[in-house]
Amino acid sequence: MDLEYFKQWVYKEFRINLYAYKPNQLHRRILSLMSRVGVKSVDEYINLLKRDDGQRQKFLDFITINVSEFFRNPEIFEDLRNKIKIELLSKNRNLKIWSAACSIGAEPYSIAMILDEIAPMGKHTIIATDIDNTILEKAKKGIYNISEIKNVKKTQIDKYFEKQGEQYVLDKKIKDMVTFKKHDLILDRYDIGFDLIICRNVVIYFNQDVKDEIYKKFGASLKKDGLLFVGATESIYNYKEFGFDKSSTFIYRKL
Ligand SMILES: C[S@@+](CC[C@H](N)C(=O)[O-])C[C@H]1O[C@@H](n2cnc3c(N)ncnc32)[C@H](O)[C@@H]1O
Repeated sequence: MDLEYFKQWVYKEFRINLYAYKPNQLHRRILSLMSRVGVKSVDEYINLLKRDDGQRQKFLDFITINVSEFFRNPEIFEDLRNKIKIELLSKNRNLKIWSAACSIGAEPYSIAMILDEIAPMGKHTIIATDIDNTILEKAKKGIYNISEIKNVKKTQIDKYFEKQGEQYVLDKKIKDMVTFKKHDLILDRYDIGFDLIICRNVVIYFNQDVKDEIYKKFGASLKKDGLLFVGATESIYNYKEFGFDKSSTFIYRKL
């Protein structure tokens, strides 16, 4: 099946670079999606995507995989909280933070809660980005279900959420700490001067060259001694190449 042609079409149509993804995994997933929607060829699938907005959204959701939750891997977030306190706030009262590929906003809002708890007087900037506009709209609303907040402590739920039916609505003060923007990690330019960059559970889908390029750009975006927080399956083996030192298994310090 001609997936090369499909990738070119997807780039032209959606400005999404599927060449950056690990090919075997991506091809398997696209074929399984096509069989799920009942099409047998790439041409047939392209025609379907051209005329059916629902299918277009389904395809984008499938590519972007935006599962997330607050304090994903709580023990690693605890490590991050300590490092923010000991390594970052000891030098700088006002932090500039980037949550890249932030999905539903659970990640930048987790950071906002931590800062509200340990450094409420600071004037912090938290920028949260994702390639997917639909998910950014959900993130801005700040409304979650019980499974998305399962790692939030009872005291934090009481303090930062209001229960409305089955949903949990995040407090305006925490929402106002985060600015959401659309950003593609592969195609867009990176801002600079960050104390902390969080990028978790997205580079696993990219090939090694693209991953290396992203880590190199994160290195350039961080201040000296700034921290990069990665996902729980994403330790960077060649971190020295990008000018990092290891702070802990999933946290790297810019030299
Ligand atoms: C599995 S979620 C991870 C969410 C969160 N970081 C976490 O760990 O819980 C992956 C997110 O990456 C986003 N994404 C995929 N490709 C991207 C790209 N090229 N640039 C920016 N975000 C991207 C998706 O839209 C999705 O929201």
